[in-house]
Formats: sequence, C-alpha cells, structure tokens
Amino acid sequence: INVWTKVEALNNALEKKSVLIRGRAQTIRAVGKKMAFIVIRENGFTAQCVVQVHPDHVSPQMVKYATALSRESIVDIEGVVSVPDTAIKGASQQVEVQVRKIYCVSRAVPTLPINIEDAARSEIEIEKALQAGEQLVRVNQDTRLNYRVLDIRTPANQAIFRIQSQVGNVFRQFLLSEGFVEIHTPKLIAGSSEGGAAVFRLDYKGQAACLAQSPQLHKQMAICGDFGRVFEVGPVFRAEDSFTHRHLCEFTGLDVEMEIKKHYFEVMDIVDRLFVAMFDSLNKNCEKDLEAVGRQYPFEPLKYLRKTLRLTYEEGIQMLKDAGVEIDPLGDLNTESERKLGQLVLEKYGTEFYILHRYPLAVRPFYTMPCYDNPAYSNSFDVFIRGEEIISGAQRVHVPEFLEKRAEACGIDVKTISTYIDSFRYGAPPHGGFGVGLERVVMLFCGLNNIRKTSLYPRDPLRIAP
Ligand code: 4AD
Repeated sequence: INVWTKVEALNNALEKKSVLIRGRAQTIRAVGKKMAFIVIRENGFTAQCVVQVHPDHVSPQMVKYATALSRESIVDIEGVVSVPDTAIKGASQQVEVQVRKIYCVSRAVPTLPINIEDAARSEIEIEKALQAGEQLVRVNQDTRLNYRVLDIRTPANQAIFRIQSQVGNVFRQFLLSEGFVEIHTPKLIAGSSEGGAAVFRLDYKGQAACLAQSPQLHKQMAICGDFGRVFEVGPVFRAEDSFTHRHLCEFTGLDVEMEIKKHYFEVMDIVDRLFVAMFDSLNKNCEKDLEAVGRQYPFEPLKYLRKTLRLTYEEGIQMLKDAGVEIDPLGDLNTESERKLGQLVLEKYGTEFYILHRYPLAVRPFYTMPCYDNPAYSNSFDVFIRGEEIISGAQRVHVPEFLEKRAEACGIDVKTISTYIDSFRYGAPPHGGFGVGLERVVMLFCGLNNIRKTSLYPRDPLRIAP
C-alpha cells in the first residue's frame, strides 16, 4: 500500500482494511516474547497497534524489534484494522491495528526529559494517580517550556495551536471579505510607538532605534496613504517588567485600522461582527480541539451574545460602585476591578464578552481622540473576555497640530515620530482601529490560566529560549 491514513481517521468503517500510518511510538509494552502493544500518536490522536507473532506475517524477531523501540521514535506501520471485542462505543480508541510491517523512520533518545503521557494528564487525573500510589512526576511549567518541543506534542497543546491557527484564519478571512488590505509594517523603528518604558532599545547602525511595540504608527500612516481599511498580523515587542499570567515580551498582534465616516462606533461594529464570527467558527470547526483542551484543562464554553454588549466606562464604574468597589472614575481599571466587572456583567447580562467604551482620556495613549462633548473622556474602547482585556482600540487624532500637542503632553519626544506626524499634514481622513493579542484570545476563549500555554515559544522577562 502507498496510501497513508491519518491516525485521527482510523475508525470502525475501516475494519479488515489494510492501512499505512506514520506516527510516534508513545508507549511500548511487551507481553511475553510473542506480543507487544504500541500506542502510535499522530498530531495528538492515538491508536493502539498490536504486534503479535503470526506464522504468515510476524516473526518473533519483529516483536523483539518493536519492543526495543524507544518512546517518541517515529515509525511507519502497515497493518490491518480490527475492532476489538472490548471496544467501547464512543471511546476515542475504538479500533486497533494488527501490525504486519514496522519501520523506524527516526529514533528518539532512550530517556526523555519529559514523559508525554504525564505531561498530558489533567490535575484531577494527577491527584487520582498520586492517591492510588502511582509513581508520577508532575511536569511543571518551566520544565515544559525548557523542553517545549516535547511539551507541544500533548493532545491539549496540539489542539491549542490548531485553535490559534483558526483564530488567525478567521481574522484574515473576515477582514478580507470586508474590503481590508493586509499590510506589513516595519518592526525596526526610530521611536516608541506606544510611549512608556516597555521598549526594547537597540543600535541601528549607530542610530538609536527600537523594536515596534505595535504597528500603530505605520498602520495609521497606511490610512494616510489612502488604503482605506488595513490589517496586519505580526510580532509585537514589549519590554514588560511585569511577570504575570498575561504579559509576554513578544506576542502576536492582530491589528486593524480603518477610515471612519462619523463615529468610532463603526470600529466597534467591526469588532462585534468579527468576534461573533470567530467564536461561532471556533465552536463549529474546532469542536474536537476544544474537547482535547478541556480534557486536560476543563473549562466552560464562552458565553457571548449575538450582538455584543457595549457599556460606557461610566456605566462600568457605576456597576462597580454599586457593588461596593472603591474606584477613581477618571483612573484606569486594575486587573482586579476588570475581573470584578466581568463577573457583574455576566450576572446582569449573561455574557462573558463585552465592549467597554468612552475611557477617560488620561489613561489612553497620545494618539487617542478625545470625546467631542467632553475632553476628559475619549473615543476609545477595550474589549474583554472573562473579565480580561483582549483588545484596545480608538478613534485617532488626525489633526497634526493637535497630535503634536498630545504627544508632547504625554512626554513623547516628537522628533522621534516626526515622519508620523508629518503624514497628517498632507490630508488625513478621520480613522480608528484596534489591536488584539492573539495569545490572549486563545487563552481566554479556552479558559486557560497562563498566556505561556498559548504561545508556542513564549518570551517573558526571564525567558528567551528555546
Ligand atoms: O492595549 P495595547 O497595548 O494597544 C495597542 O497596542 C494599540 N496600538 C492598539 C490600538 O490599535 N489602539 O495592546 C493591544 C492588545 C491588548 O489588548 C492585549 O490583548 C495585547 O495586545 N497585549 C499583550 N499580550 C501579551 N503580552 C503583552 N505584554 C501584551 N500587551 C498587550
């Protein structure tokens, strides 16, 4: 045979059929000298393969060869699909493969730093195993990340990155279908794009430069360049000192910028339709992956409305005050009050996804447009999943003189962004946009507790490898 079957695709319908599969030998168990069981895993899906001495097909030497394979080696197996009597209806491993031929394509070292099966267990399974007296090493986060190439082989991790891929896919497809153009802006830039201290500075051939904290300035300049509607998927660098569950030093930014005719609500409309489409698509197209994540890290499906709830910042502050939280009405929300507001919103409106808009101007970046009716507030918004921020967005200042004034007031050296400010001197349409953190979306949609779980090779203040 030379037609490959995916391990995921093995099922009862293939009973008695010959198949050719490739995967990793996850576990190898010998039963005497005449039989061995090998669990083969491909992309997080597993199948049990039986190597049993048979006068016509399988020699004792072949059983010995199979038994001596090291875990995680890559093997090709030719065999016949069988349905064991013990097959449980609905179980993931309903069929076995009776091995006829086995080849080792790539051999793994005999002792691995992480046992994939242990790394794939849920907390509940670990507790049960420990209580039953099983010898088990709990694989902690740092060990996982040190040996990430092994860690990402678990079913939950395979699923997480397929879900991440789907988020990017829906983002791109949706925006293309709405007439947005995908752009690619430079990551080496002369001055900080977001202000503040969280900037990686570097030497650019003798000139001071930094890694872009966002595509903010250049996506706006693309609007000044008449593109109308643009988006970008790219790396974003933040020299964050914060060692938290939701901050990385490098993450993937999903950025949008668009002309607006009248109101920053036009930008929020895009957020609304884009994310409802995204959540629908994840629930529909990533069902198996969501289940795989849930088996290791149990979570409740995200509650969201067909039309995304919008609250003003003042309404949010009032809800917090009514619940007894002391809060500065013109200050920023801290992590704790964001969570609390998330709970209150869920209780009152039955959604874990909502938009909070009209933030105080003082807590927003220099390029944010103040509200026309009250300049203490701004035409800006944040978006939350399960009480944590995944998006920030706003209408931007498009009047160069005012933009310059705002940058100065926010302590930014305008010389470093002079080409950006100049872009508005040649005529600039009213516009707005938003930035989404890809890793945060996946983390919060799947109810995960740490952003390092949704970054393939996370970068935080203490980690730049692997
Ligand atoms: O809130 P931020 O800093 O906003 C901007 O970068 C603006 N230029 C966006 C705009 O168009 N107005 O970042 C946007 C999003 C956040 O909501 C969060 O999801 C994510 O990026 N984010 C981070 N993700 C991981 N680690 C970090 N250190 C992050 N900082 C922000």
